[in-house]
Amino acid sequence: MIDATRVETPGGAYDVFVGTNVLDEIGRIAARVLPGSRIALITDDTVGVLYADVATDSLRRAGYSVIPMSVPAGESSKSWSVAGQLVERMAAAGLERSDAVVALGGGVIGDLAGFCAGVYMRGIAVLQVPTTLLAQADSSIGGKTAVDLDAGKNLAGVFMQPSAVLSDTGTLTSLPEHEWRSGLAEVVKSAVLEGEEFLGWLEKNTADLMSRDSGAVYEAVRRCACFKGRVVSSDEREAGERESLNYGHTLGHAIEKVAGFGVIPHGLAVGEGIRFAAHLSERVLGSAPAFSQRQEALLDAMGLSALQRRFDANEIRSAMSNDKKSRGGNPRFVLMQEPGVFQVVEVDGMTLAEEIDRWVLEGDEGS
Ligand SMILES: NC(=O)c1ccc[n+]([C@@H]2O[C@H](COP(=O)([O-])OP(=O)(O)OC[C@H]3O[C@@H](n4cnc5c(N)ncnc54)[C@H](O)[C@@H]3O)[C@@H](O)[C@H]2O)c1
Ligand SMILES: [Zn+2]
Repeated sequence: MIDATRVETPGGAYDVFVGTNVLDEIGRIAARVLPGSRIALITDDTVGVLYADVATDSLRRAGYSVIPMSVPAGESSKSWSVAGQLVERMAAAGLERSDAVVALGGGVIGDLAGFCAGVYMRGIAVLQVPTTLLAQADSSIGGKTAVDLDAGKNLAGVFMQPSAVLSDTGTLTSLPEHEWRSGLAEVVKSAVLEGEEFLGWLEKNTADLMSRDSGAVYEAVRRCACFKGRVVSSDEREAGERESLNYGHTLGHAIEKVAGFGVIPHGLAVGEGIRFAAHLSERVLGSAPAFSQRQEALLDAMGLSALQRRFDANEIRSAMSNDKKSRGGNPRFVLMQEPGVFQVVEVDGMTLAEEIDRWVLEGDEGS
């Protein structure tokens, strides 16, 4: 079974397909949306070993000539120099304006290959084939692509909507536990933002998701894809609703930065960020404490336990004010009134300092 969600943005309209054990459908889907005859299949060394053969065979059966390109797994491949090597190889292989890129892998490959497709000949088509929970639930949809610079993460990028997204939830069975958990934080984020229906479903199906029951995983990814597709359709460039996707990310990014990138997985930092944002929502918006208690219980049940907070409050504060999303020094937070109802608020320095001190202290007591 394959579910399709339509995403319509000014930068392009496309389908997000979600199914279980459907990777070999990639050739058929490519044939519907990619006009050319050559495909650069970009993957990483880990994903390539597991899934490149199935994808390549399917694409070849559909008549494409496939040029395989693999980079080392991990964030360090999301760089200007690796992107440069890939586009040079695309040129050397004679890829033309009508040819395409297939991005087979997690968020790193999606961002990197999407970026290469976006700049090669001023933009050739890209098909996103995400293989991590984070990428299927979130990063493969919406057209943001980037590489990291020495000065910071995602600092060079382009908007490049894919021609289609194919999420095979069967590929998630091979995902290491910490990557799985990291993705679950984004699923919780999406459910809280979407509202009661999704949140209630997640609470009821936590145990099945934890054991990666195939039906539950499919349903979670499908719901996340619908949610993200709807948000980016209404706001491609983050002028309004798309900003809500940063729920938990103001503190989350600060934690990742202060700990040193790669030390704390993104999802765990985001889990911590949404705990903090829910508390801040009580103070700033007067939200009911029952909301943050409910979210805490869900995060705990998902194995996203609170971090031991051996952080310096001042370092966290200054990392927040330097975030590329803060405007004029005051960090912006996505705060929740209740499930499904958010507000973006610039929080004043005094309130924030008190809340960060409280957060650091509580985390210390708990450790
Ligand atoms: N563009 C966006 O909107 C957006 C949104 C959120 C995050 N991101 C980016 O996504 C990146 C993180 O993505 P990620 O968490 O998917 O990391 P990742 O791509 O590095 O994948 C994590 C690890 O899992 C391995 N892996 C991937 N799929 C696998 C599978 N099916 N089985 C076994 N191993 C597998 C990879 O080789 C890698 O080692 C970051 O660079 C972040 O900036 C982008
Ligand atoms: Zn995130």
